[in-house]
Amino acid sequence: KETATDQYYTVTAQESETQLLPGPKTKTWGYNDSLLGKTIIFKRGKKVHITLKNELHELTTFHWHGLNVPGPYIDGGCHAPVYPGQSSEIEFTCNQPAATLWLHAHPCPSTAQQVWHGLAAPVVVQDEAEAKLPLPRNYGVDDFPLILQDRNFHADNQWDYRADYDPDGVQGKTPMINGTINSYIDVTTQRVRLRVLDGANRREFRLHFSDGLEFAQIASDGGILPEPVYFTKVMMTCAERDEFVVDFGKYQDGDEVALMSDDVPLVHFRIHAFEKETTQLPEHLVDIPDLPVTPGTETRHIVMSGMDEEVALDGKKFEMQRIDARQKVGDVVLWDITNSNEMVGGMIHPFHIHGTQFLVVSRNGHAPYPNEHGWKDTVSVNPNEHVQIKVRFEYTGVYMYHCHIIEHEDGGMMAQIESF
Ligand code: C2O
Ligand code: CU
Ligand code: CU
Repeated sequence: KETATDQYYTVTAQESETQLLPGPKTKTWGYNDSLLGKTIIFKRGKKVHITLKNELHELTTFHWHGLNVPGPYIDGGCHAPVYPGQSSEIEFTCNQPAATLWLHAHPCPSTAQQVWHGLAAPVVVQDEAEAKLPLPRNYGVDDFPLILQDRNFHADNQWDYRADYDPDGVQGKTPMINGTINSYIDVTTQRVRLRVLDGANRREFRLHFSDGLEFAQIASDGGILPEPVYFTKVMMTCAERDEFVVDFGKYQDGDEVALMSDDVPLVHFRIHAFEKETTQLPEHLVDIPDLPVTPGTETRHIVMSGMDEEVALDGKKFEMQRIDARQKVGDVVLWDITNSNEMVGGMIHPFHIHGTQFLVVSRNGHAPYPNEHGWKDTVSVNPNEHVQIKVRFEYTGVYMYHCHIIEHEDGGMMAQIESF
């Protein structure tokens, strides 16, 4: 329901089953759906009222990943449990740039298992600045969310989290895109916008087209980039969102091309006859303010270390009763995040902060990647790398920050900051 000033939603976490393969259905979870959930749209400037319902057999929380909201209860991390059979209400005004965010479960320490069962859904923020840009935005026609995940199928087509468990993150052999296998998209316009979320518990995706087609990235986690960045291959790590515009102009009716990760096809694009585009993608998209670091603030050093059960943040494991750091509302503080990797072939840790969008300053002292010049809430930190970001909180409250390999997060590679 929606009025001129308000939006109303009910989001129910539920257990269900889904026909994913021939034969027995797979037990799955979802939001208002049997698996994952439909895109939730917030309009900038409107007040949002959401009823959160838990129809699972265990407690859950409803975390708005990337949403800039006041305090831990609306944010929906560990601090905001909704018990089985219960519901709760939240209200906030959406006031941030147009972006692709997501909703996922976040009860500590069983986030990984709940997201794995299907508690994840796309969230789209719309605003006027984005609406003026000549970009595809006709949902389901030339604008598609793509949730990238991977699963294993065991006996009777069932998933088995415990059988697949790995403290460094659970992976599967079968790509699941938007909760489907062998996914395809019918292309009926020359330009198509893909709002891609790495919704896997652990896996990185190295996205490219089967024929090397170049594509443009137009947005990162927290909104539209200053200008399109062109790639033939781009990596996404857990929880990151990249929006791409793909130009299928060189293909003809009947052609097919696949979006791949390494040598595995994720989505097949079936080309149909379309009208020729007469416009180009603009060279400039939006202005991103430069946040000068607040004088007198000290750089915050953060170290992610370990593997398996040994993972830690600043040498400690997460404790909900402990506040690990404090930062004044409105201050812009430099955070320096290190992936200290004593082992051979270490892992990439995607570092995420709740309740804010930040700017990436540098990687090991060098310029960030070309697609890191916009708002981010999750940044990959490579083995033996330190990444500097500028962080500002707009609201008071306690916010978590952690590795977004979800088993690392559940394993304690997480801490919390109070903004005051
Ligand atoms: Cu995607 Cu603690 O979050
Ligand atoms: Cu989050
Ligand atoms: Cu990690």
